[in-house]
Amino acid sequence: MTVRIAPSILSADFARLADEIAMCEAGGADWIHVDVMDGQFVPNLTFGRKVIETLRRLTALPLDVHLMVVQPERYLEDFASAGANGLTIHAEAAPHLQRQLARIRELGCRAGVALNPSTPLSAVSEIVPDIDLLLIMTVNPGFGGQEFIEYLVDKIRRARLMLDECASDAVLEVDGGISRATIEDAWRAGADTFVAGNAIFSAADPRAEIGALRQRCLVSV
Ligand code: DX5
Ligand code: ZN
Repeated sequence: MTVRIAPSILSADFARLADEIAMCEAGGADWIHVDVMDGQFVPNLTFGRKVIETLRRLTALPLDVHLMVVQPERYLEDFASAGANGLTIHAEAAPHLQRQLARIRELGCRAGVALNPSTPLSAVSEIVPDIDLLLIMTVNPGFGGQEFIEYLVDKIRRARLMLDECASDAVLEVDGGISRATIEDAWRAGADTFVAGNAIFSAADPRAEIGALRQRCLVSV
């Protein structure tokens, strides 16, 4: 089974963004995870179109854009044209979720939906055919470097069951507190794609850490 590692550039050194992206490529990263925050859906502000465009010029790796914003529909077209490959919106921020996911596909991007820790899987269980990626948040979004909420491993397991029961080949991604200590539990529960910010960018050897995280999964098959 696939293991994808998606470094979150939220924890990168923005003064050396090009070097950080080159490091991710050299380390074998599969995707670059891009955390867009609006200061409303989450209590933090990050970046928008300009940074997505910049990243697009720096790498051919897929840009996995995670929108932690209210009214995500306002940004879909703009971010797709800036070079996003995947757009993941929060179920909590999108009352007309099915319509927005269909729109993301129309724009030629992978249609992703994220669930906060307290949001049940039933928030998306009726619209699985429209989901290309399901993101299970294992922290409350807003900041890097938070602790993985261990009991959510069971939610990952149930998400895998839900996708399998619907014969969905959607990506099952986990975001928040992923490290050498936590990735294996998430992998065994059925996740295939792992966002990691702090664990990679604060490591003594960030490039090697990408491989080390992947290895934790591969040896535990
Ligand atoms: C959290 C963001 C994450 C964050 C992960 O709000 O969505 O992508 O960057 O960072 P770590 O891996 O440090 O928990
Ligand atoms: Zn994220």
